[in-house]
Amino acid sequence: MKEREHFGSRAAVIMALAGSAIGLGNIWRFPYMVGEHGGAAFIIVYLAASLFLALPIFFAESIIGRSGGSNTYGSMQKLAPGTGWKWLGLLTIISPIIILSYYSVVGGWSVEYLFKALAFDFSGSDARIEGFFGRFISSVWEPIIAHTVFIGAVAGVVLGGVKKGIEKFTKITMPLLFFLILVLVVYSLLLPGAGEGVRYLVKPDFSKLDVQAVAAAMGQAFFSLSLGVGTVLTYASYMKADENIFASGLGTAAADLFFAVLAGFAIMPAVFAAGIAPGAGPGLVFETLPYIFNHMSLWASWVGALVAIVFFFTILVAALTSAISIMEVGVAYLAEEKGRSRKKAVLEITLFAWVVGVLCSLSFGPLAGVQLLGNSIFDFLDKLCSNWLLPLGGLLFTLFVGWKMSKASVREEFTNKGKRNTRVFGLVYFLMRFVAPIGIVIVFFTNLLL
Ligand code: PHE
Repeated sequence: MKEREHFGSRAAVIMALAGSAIGLGNIWRFPYMVGEHGGAAFIIVYLAASLFLALPIFFAESIIGRSGGSNTYGSMQKLAPGTGWKWLGLLTIISPIIILSYYSVVGGWSVEYLFKALAFDFSGSDARIEGFFGRFISSVWEPIIAHTVFIGAVAGVVLGGVKKGIEKFTKITMPLLFFLILVLVVYSLLLPGAGEGVRYLVKPDFSKLDVQAVAAAMGQAFFSLSLGVGTVLTYASYMKADENIFASGLGTAAADLFFAVLAGFAIMPAVFAAGIAPGAGPGLVFETLPYIFNHMSLWASWVGALVAIVFFFTILVAALTSAISIMEVGVAYLAEEKGRSRKKAVLEITLFAWVVGVLCSLSFGPLAGVQLLGNSIFDFLDKLCSNWLLPLGGLLFTLFVGWKMSKASVREEFTNKGKRNTRVFGLVYFLMRFVAPIGIVIVFFTNLLL
């Protein structure tokens, strides 16, 4: 068998993991979730869910991936041969295909919007902007073509492999992303009336915080940290043996949270400055921002047009690095377990996800009438993944590490054979064994029953 590839350095590991974590979840999903569930109150619950539920799962996945040294299925198989745990590996081939499919549809929207911004289509008359989002997503071909372009670009990078594809791409794009989002925050905060948005982000309104909001916060934490589908596990399997699992987990979570908050500060002040309702749902970013860029140009109208380009470029790049990590989970599985060449594996996953993505895309138009448990195909798959499959996958991963693997081997992996992080190990182990699983189960049940 060919030798497995590894990330070249600590920086490369963090960039790749942060590249996976930071994506549409931060820029598109987080702001509208905050808007729907009561602003700062939601952020507080989200922070708690990230720290106590999501981060322990991040460590659990890293431990399985690095000690298993293989894709999700192969790692489980190696650490617990002949047991039913390997089926968990299979779950993580299904979830990535589903996520990739609808993720790529939204990625496609950002492709379309970037082109529109580049053509200065968002400046000038409001008539062109008004209703554009609705018209665009409900049409048949344009969003499908955009989805195809997006998933094609993802496939292109994944085809390049771990070092020449993923590592190279994320190392260039991640620092750029932080720079761009900072530019956007500064611009947004300078808009007249921005203070209202800032207040919304820092002043909690607990009256909107119901069980659904708590479940949504947990789902968002899992989605944003790329957990429960084997992404972190697969990337961790490309870490070198002396890499620090605790440090890379903390670094990734910090970068992800920081970016989500920055995205909130880039978007909410602008939304409020334009007098738009923050609870606009999935269309928030795409529907309201072009309008805002057109109206709220500081200094001169071309500045707004330029900021629109920067904004949609940022979303696109963030989406690409995440989608790449989702695709890699399935590709690693097919290549290592089913003996496919990398090329064939990429092709197969791309095709599957493309087809499901087309259905998702059409669910805003011709297939709008198709309802699954009261949701459109797109919403159904998004909720299925974020609120159920990801936390479920995470729950099983952490149970595996906390209760199936021996404490000694978990300790050895986490502390690099007793060389580092020995003092936090007890706490992390406790979180992985008790706090995270119990917390996830409680949220599951209350969400089911109420
Ligand atoms: N974390 C990514 C984002 O925030 C999405 C993602 C989910 C990536 C699951 C990988 C696995 O956009």
